[in-house]
Amino acid sequence: MRIGIMSAMNEEIQSLIDSVESPKVKTLGNRKYYHGKLWNHETVLVFSRWGKVASASTAATLILKYNVDLILFTGVAGAIDKSLNIGDIVVGDHFYQHDMDARPFFEKFEIPLIGSSFFSSNKEVNIKLKAAAESFLASNEISNEIKTKFDIKAPKVIIGTIASGDKFVSSTAESNAIKTALPKVMCVEMEGAAVAQVCSEYEIPYGIIRTISDSANHTADIDFLLFTKEIANKYSIGIIKNFLTL
Ligand code: ADE
Repeated sequence: MRIGIMSAMNEEIQSLIDSVESPKVKTLGNRKYYHGKLWNHETVLVFSRWGKVASASTAATLILKYNVDLILFTGVAGAIDKSLNIGDIVVGDHFYQHDMDARPFFEKFEIPLIGSSFFSSNKEVNIKLKAAAESFLASNEISNEIKTKFDIKAPKVIIGTIASGDKFVSSTAESNAIKTALPKVMCVEMEGAAVAQVCSEYEIPYGIIRTISDSANHTADIDFLLFTKEIANKYSIGIIKNFLTL
């Protein structure tokens, strides 16, 4: 079993990359792939860069060049549903591309020639990711200082719908428009649904887990920068380590 692990930012994956035992490093298509053992599992780690194209090409490379059997994506997202707070965790089960609109040829959000407007991730992987994230939250690895700074009170893990698009969502008007058009969406990011499409088309199981870094509103840029700088890596390594070891 070989597991591909990817994130859109260094701030979300560097501490995991640093934990790979004597990795074989290879550069392909402007990405660095780290192939080696991570807590006794054969893994290939990569920082994919932002957006749907960057993450899709990286996922395809993991599948075609490294023959991974599973892809895990870890990173941050902006909250779209009002019930979510900074520090909560979303395991994605359905993935929409909120910027897909090929009307009048296809319905709004429908992925042309796929016959659907969303992709579904692997149920067993999601249950395991949720347990890994819950155990991370229960482990007190997030300091009180960080909890106070980000107003993290009783963080929770949910399984739910994620929307992806090539847009950093930073206004209530944009968030409300996504929620109105796709009411089940819990959070927004820029890669998950692209990775979901590639994995679905190659029939490779995948799991995508996102920590809420901001509320996709007028303070999203500041909240996002601070969260990714200070704590995103801690969430990623905590969750993925639990996934691989529990
Ligand atoms: N990732 C984290 N926060 C985001 C936001 N507000 N919009 C898009 N992607 C994000």
